[in-house]
Amino acid sequence: MKTLEHLFSNNKAWADAIVKEDPNFFKNLSKLQAPEYLWIGCSDSRVPSNELINLAPGEVFVHRNIANMVIHSDLNCLSVMQFAIEVLKVKHVIVCGHYGCGGIKASLENHDHGLIDNWLGHIKDVSRLHEDELSALNDKDREHRLCELNVIEQVANVCDTTIVKNAWKSGAELSVHGWIYNIENGILKDIIDTPITHE
Ligand code: CO
Repeated sequence: MKTLEHLFSNNKAWADAIVKEDPNFFKNLSKLQAPEYLWIGCSDSRVPSNELINLAPGEVFVHRNIANMVIHSDLNCLSVMQFAIEVLKVKHVIVCGHYGCGGIKASLENHDHGLIDNWLGHIKDVSRLHEDELSALNDKDREHRLCELNVIEQVANVCDTTIVKNAWKSGAELSVHGWIYNIENGILKDIIDTPITHE
C-alpha cells in the first residue's frame, strides 16, 4: 500500500495542471536549470521560498536551514553557494529571514534545547555583536530586531566568503540582498537599502 497517498495525488494534480498550461514545461526544464536567484532562507514551513515570490520550478536555487544562517565553515551552505554562483551563475543572492523565527526566539532563551543549541550559538554571537542595541529593547522588540540584525549579519557573511569575493574579483555581476518576511501578512521587506555588488 502506498503511504501518504494524498501527497502523491496532490503531486499528480500539480504536474497535470502545469502540463495543461505548457505541455513541454517539464521536458524543457529537465534539460537545463538556469535560475537567476539563490535563496538562503529559514527552514520554517511558513516561509516557502518559491511560493512567496511566485516563481516556478527552475527559477530559484534554494538553501534553507534554521534561522537562515551563513556559517563560514558550513560546507553544505558553502557548496550550495559555490555551485549557484560559479556554475549556475546566479545574479542575485537573497538572504531572507522572517519575523517570528523559532530559531531566533530559542537563541534568546537560556534553557537547554539539545543539539540545536550548538547551531543557535551562531545567533547568540549576533546578539553579542549588537548587545547595546538589543539590551535596550523589551523582549518582543528584541526578538523582532534580532530577526533583522541576523539577516544583516548573514548578508555580511555571504559577502565575506571566498566564493563571493572571487566572483566579484572576476567581474561577475552579482548582488547580495537582505530581506525579511512577515509571516503575519505574507509581505516581504528589503532591509538593506542598496544591494551589495562589490567588496
Ligand atoms: Co525561522
